[in-house]
Amino acid sequence: MAFPAGFGWGAATAAYQVEGGWDADGKGPNVWDTFTHQGGERIFKNQTGDVACGSYTLWEEDLKCIKQLGLTHYRFSLSWSRLLPDGTTGFINQKGIDYYNKIIDDLLANQVTPIVTLYHFDLPQALEDKGGWLSVATIESFNEYARFCFSTFGDRVKQWITINEANLFALLAYDLGMFPPAIPHQGTGGYQAAHNLIKAHARAWHSYDSLFRKEQKGMVSLSLFAGWVEPADPNSVSDQEAAKRTLAFHLDFFAKPIFIDGDYPEVVKSQVAAMSQKQGYPSSRLPEFTEEEKRMIKGTADFFAVQYYSSSLVKHQENDKGELGIFQDAEIEIFPDPSWINLGGIYVVPWGIRKLLKYIKDTYNNPVIYITENGFPQGDPAPLDDTQRWEYFRQTFQELFKAIHLDKVDLKLYCAWALLDNFEWRQGYSLRFGFFHVDFEDPERRRVPYTSAKEYAKVIRNNGLEGHP
Ligand code: GAL
Repeated sequence: MAFPAGFGWGAATAAYQVEGGWDADGKGPNVWDTFTHQGGERIFKNQTGDVACGSYTLWEEDLKCIKQLGLTHYRFSLSWSRLLPDGTTGFINQKGIDYYNKIIDDLLANQVTPIVTLYHFDLPQALEDKGGWLSVATIESFNEYARFCFSTFGDRVKQWITINEANLFALLAYDLGMFPPAIPHQGTGGYQAAHNLIKAHARAWHSYDSLFRKEQKGMVSLSLFAGWVEPADPNSVSDQEAAKRTLAFHLDFFAKPIFIDGDYPEVVKSQVAAMSQKQGYPSSRLPEFTEEEKRMIKGTADFFAVQYYSSSLVKHQENDKGELGIFQDAEIEIFPDPSWINLGGIYVVPWGIRKLLKYIKDTYNNPVIYITENGFPQGDPAPLDDTQRWEYFRQTFQELFKAIHLDKVDLKLYCAWALLDNFEWRQGYSLRFGFFHVDFEDPERRRVPYTSAKEYAKVIRNNGLEGHP
């Protein structure tokens, strides 16, 4: 009836989305500060994370929410430029260290395990100005920052995520230009950034492995975004192939080098090379890893961290005009099934998570899996009685139960997104993902539980759904 003993039940947040205090106590600007301050209607109502949930000053209120839920784990991210205002250890902001020390100590004092993300989309502006993730120099800056964090917090933090949704981030920030630095480089920037992100993750993992693991005994991974995909026509071989390519270009693109052999999937290499040739490029737009880099990258994750929100249908879409872009390279078109329920822009497909977990188990040698994010939003204004939204969480837990007990997936932890309503990137405050409602007009940013919070607390207490399955 229950989940395995010791199963982790968490909730997540990210620094820029909740902290506010964007220039408080010596924090340096990051790319989201710059992007939101530029205006230009790229974000819902030009909203910013300047104050957000005010967690920089209201941590005690967040802790109350965490205790009310009875979380076993709390996942949050460190703001790089709060700790290192210009991105380097040339200047260290003690106030930033104090803030995160307090969070970590309070969590541990309350028997809540911290899961700490080093980097959740918020590059220090000073590093973006030097080329950001398109530049190889950022790999070493990240490694320096990671080492600083391991040595400062690693006596107490044992579960680290280096980079949040590295795969989605490369696409949104450096390919499509939807996220800062918001300069599109379709068909080139995403690959270049991904190449550097993979190496940065691997370098940081090695730093942990060689300098800290023996003493600190923790675990390090990166989190990957993954939607499940089904062939639009299950009987069409070309749609089936398109579904495989979609997973290859999104998830396996990062997971195969890191978990298997240090290199990109063959289908990605061949598609991008063929398309690049057609477009007259002298070589593939996809950079290559050297043999030494492959050895450095291979095996650099201690668990598989995945973030699932939704699923799609996919069909083959030939790129006969040689258009630039990652989807164009993959020759896919993805779209939702019209029968799926759309909740705040996310199609609700709880069974997709079970299929995805099985795929990860089968493809990546049955790794320990953490779901580091999953959730459902409501539009604003959102009713406190969010019974419908809770129903999707409930269905998701049923799927996880089946994944563990029927598919024998080694799932050890589930982290919902999010602890609190927060700044949802380009959607600003118009989408609410929290277990706790936050009134963003209220200077005190009061946190009020949704029905989901009370229900989630029950699940955590019972270590599963009542009367399950
Ligand atoms: C993820 C992201 C989170 C949160 C969530 C909800 O992609 O890591 O920061 O915004 O989506 O959309």
